[in-house]
Amino acid sequence: MCGIVGYIGNKDVKEILLSGLDTLEYRGYDSAGIYITDEANQGHLFKEKGRIAALRDKVDNSISAFSGIGHTRWATHGIPSVENAHPHQSTSGHFTIVHNGVIENFEEVKDAYLADVHFHSTTDTEVIVQLIAWFVESEELDTIDAFKKAIVTLKGSYALALVDNENPNTLYAAKNKSPLLLGTGEGFNVISSDAMAMVRETDQFIELMDGEVATLTKDSIKIEDLAGEIIERDSYTAHIDANDLGKGTYPYYMIKEIDEQPAVMRKLIQQYQNENGDLEINESVLSEIKESDRVYIIACGTSYNAGWVGKQLIERITGTPTEVHLASEFAYNTPLLTKKPFFIFLSQSGETADSRQVLVQVNKAGYPSLTLTNVPGSTLSREAKHTLLLHAGPEIAVASTKAYTAQIAVLAILAECVAKYNGVDSPLDVAHELGIIANAIETVIDDHEIFERLSVTHLSTSKNAFYIGRGIDYYVVMEAALKLKEVSYVQAEGWASGELKHGTIALIEDNTPVISIITDKVSGPHTRGNAHEVISRGANSMIISMEGLDRQEDAYVLPKVHDLLTPLISVIPTQLIAYYTALHRGNDVDKPRNLAKSVTVE
Ligand code: AGP
Repeated sequence: MCGIVGYIGNKDVKEILLSGLDTLEYRGYDSAGIYITDEANQGHLFKEKGRIAALRDKVDNSISAFSGIGHTRWATHGIPSVENAHPHQSTSGHFTIVHNGVIENFEEVKDAYLADVHFHSTTDTEVIVQLIAWFVESEELDTIDAFKKAIVTLKGSYALALVDNENPNTLYAAKNKSPLLLGTGEGFNVISSDAMAMVRETDQFIELMDGEVATLTKDSIKIEDLAGEIIERDSYTAHIDANDLGKGTYPYYMIKEIDEQPAVMRKLIQQYQNENGDLEINESVLSEIKESDRVYIIACGTSYNAGWVGKQLIERITGTPTEVHLASEFAYNTPLLTKKPFFIFLSQSGETADSRQVLVQVNKAGYPSLTLTNVPGSTLSREAKHTLLLHAGPEIAVASTKAYTAQIAVLAILAECVAKYNGVDSPLDVAHELGIIANAIETVIDDHEIFERLSVTHLSTSKNAFYIGRGIDYYVVMEAALKLKEVSYVQAEGWASGELKHGTIALIEDNTPVISIITDKVSGPHTRGNAHEVISRGANSMIISMEGLDRQEDAYVLPKVHDLLTPLISVIPTQLIAYYTALHRGNDVDKPRNLAKSVTVE
């Protein structure tokens, strides 16, 4: 949530900051701002409510500036407004700051130190910059010591980039829990909350750790801990293709990412196959799962929905009991654990605060953990014992699509490898089946016009909708409903079809859209029966079934794939339906209201 960029060097900084913020905009898009220093050491602050495009219009292009910081915001404390947009400045104008995260004790800090200070915003962030100024002015500390003292005083999560306006040839950075990177180059250095934002400038990054402070000039980066001990750390190469960050010929990232799913399936087979063509996963992961008596999958949102399919795969393929938990619930309402738990964290971004909160507890208890993530080097990847990558390429649309299918595919690969390691016969050849699925996804996507038409006939005006299914189809309808509500704003429920008659059917009236997913041969006939019950009560029914289970009345028939992997194919129509419904309703498909891509606050 929120995005930070900073640059100090020999190029004009305006476009570097603005295009960095463009790249990070999917992380938060309520308001944005930049602070830049010109050749005469004069600072200029530009802030705007709304999107980066609005900020870009506001920036004075006649200014030449070679250092600056920028921010795109997802509001936590204080409404989206120009006043609450970052950067924030101390009252004297001495310091300017941008911040990702939440300061938990900002009210206490205000009372303890800043009772006489006039605040210009209602954010927690302004407290940080006012506090630094207060330490400099009242305690006569120099900037770095005031910054360190502020860090010790503040509680919460933060990634910070700071400018001392009296010495703008230096930028300062620090972090706690929220990620922050320092990028290095010839005659310039950068700060970025995500390597993607600055990859056009450099692919060399140094990770900043909690409890460290960095001082950047155009020619040097100094990292020290709070006691002043210098820390040497090598840079790493960020393997991000700047071309992957664009939409190409697609109108929206969401449809581009839906379209990329067959390629992701093929890439995963390639990435996890060894030279003999067998699927392979690090043996220590397999032996720890073998040793465990239960797998606990922890995740949020779409990743949580993928987790339910993962449970099915792990239990059916390996025989290991598996539970799925919402991270935000697990952290504060922890269930009774078995003696030898193994934890799997599913997270596209690898930065989700709710999941991290659980991982911290898991690490404290000394339990083994594995993160499945799309982002190498992300917090959840670094802090878990093991990582498996999703290899889906950057997912920019806020609504997750290709990460969901990649998570399921990697869980299937993991399950097969565990089964083999445990000497259990796997009921399927995952690599072979994923190849079939890649082709099947292509077939469904080729039929996108059918789903556009169905979106118009069923969902263009309705306020609510139901997806129903049983068993493995129930897991998919949970995801289908989440996708529909987040991008189209249609109030949608993903419901176990057998549960309808226990209360929810009271909501069915004339034209209520009810979309049934039927891929499971055992429970499918029951779901069809439930579909008829709602049709009898006036529902505008749409049945999506799998070849072999289809009937004349069905709106779409999915190509047949292996029973255990049907979610990889049945979810595709639901992604397309969400996309087209949002498009026809005139919504911003890639940046739905109130949301942000990477949820780094609890
Ligand atoms: C997906 O469409 C959502 N935007 C959201 O539910 C997301 O899946 C959730 O926040 C978890 O994110 P993560 O996978 O990056 O941890």
